[in-house]
Amino acid sequence: MKIVTDIQELRDQLRGQNRASFVPTMGNLHEGHLSLMRIARQHGDPVIASIFVNRLQFGPHEDFDQYPRTLEADAEKLEKEGVYVLFAPTEKVLYPEPQEYRVDPPKQLGDILEGEFRPGFFKGVCTVVLKLFSCVQPRVAVFGKKDYQQLMIIRQMAHQFALPVEIVAGETIRADDGLALSSRNAYLSDAERAEAPHLQASLQQLRLDVLDAIHRAGQPLDQSLRELEKKTADTLTQRGWQPDYIAIRKRADLLAPSNDDLLAKKELVILAAAKLGKTRLIDNLEI
Ligand code: PAJ
Repeated sequence: MKIVTDIQELRDQLRGQNRASFVPTMGNLHEGHLSLMRIARQHGDPVIASIFVNRLQFGPHEDFDQYPRTLEADAEKLEKEGVYVLFAPTEKVLYPEPQEYRVDPPKQLGDILEGEFRPGFFKGVCTVVLKLFSCVQPRVAVFGKKDYQQLMIIRQMAHQFALPVEIVAGETIRADDGLALSSRNAYLSDAERAEAPHLQASLQQLRLDVLDAIHRAGQPLDQSLRELEKKTADTLTQRGWQPDYIAIRKRADLLAPSNDDLLAKKELVILAAAKLGKTRLIDNLEI
């Protein structure tokens, strides 16, 4: 595997490749990331990975400085997965001057849920992903469903800019106890780590409650879903979490379903973000 830090060197290395599959990451790789490398391999050849902790997507009080940087161990894992090139640019390479042209996703998708609690987050994500696509020029790029809203926003960006890249989704990889793998899990204390699977567990309970409510269809359904969201958030709060949102949304646009949407059996997903101590975790569950 070649580790390339420079854009021109990357282009030289990939010249003539028109079936490349790409997996962008911020490093500190775990099985979730590695599962995406395997999906990438099924969709193209060669597989290119990137590691870049993107300052643009971190808020001023977020964990940019603290974010785990483990390049050597990451490179070993990628080598074992048969990755052809690891693109690991420095900030000087990717942002040699202030990045003044940025991609601003539409408010109705970019400013809700994660975007509401992390202003500017998706602008930073879209900007770096577009720039990485421009460097790598992949035919396929793979993103995890763990970051459900991010996947959707990047899909829309690729569509609206007519980017010649197919966006492929990978399922969320979890620890045996159900906790979604995440680089941020490393911030959890032992006690917090023991509690953390409860986020997914509470979404599974909420899913059952939603199915039950839809089945019974008594009072206006959209209203009972709001009540169920609140009940889940309250239960998490009682267990010591600080929930940012627990939201039952339509998969198609991540907006809250109306009563008619529910009666028409529109596909739903539950999205959640909550803090446990200082660590902010996100997860989701399709219904
Ligand atoms: P990062 O958090 O490193 O994640 C890189 C990719 O791995 C994303 O597509 C993410 O959804 C996926 N991923 C993370 N945890 C996963 C899990 N448990 N199972 C399956 N896939 C998982 O997401 C980013 O980096 C950045 O925002 C990036 C897209 C690289 C732009 O900077």
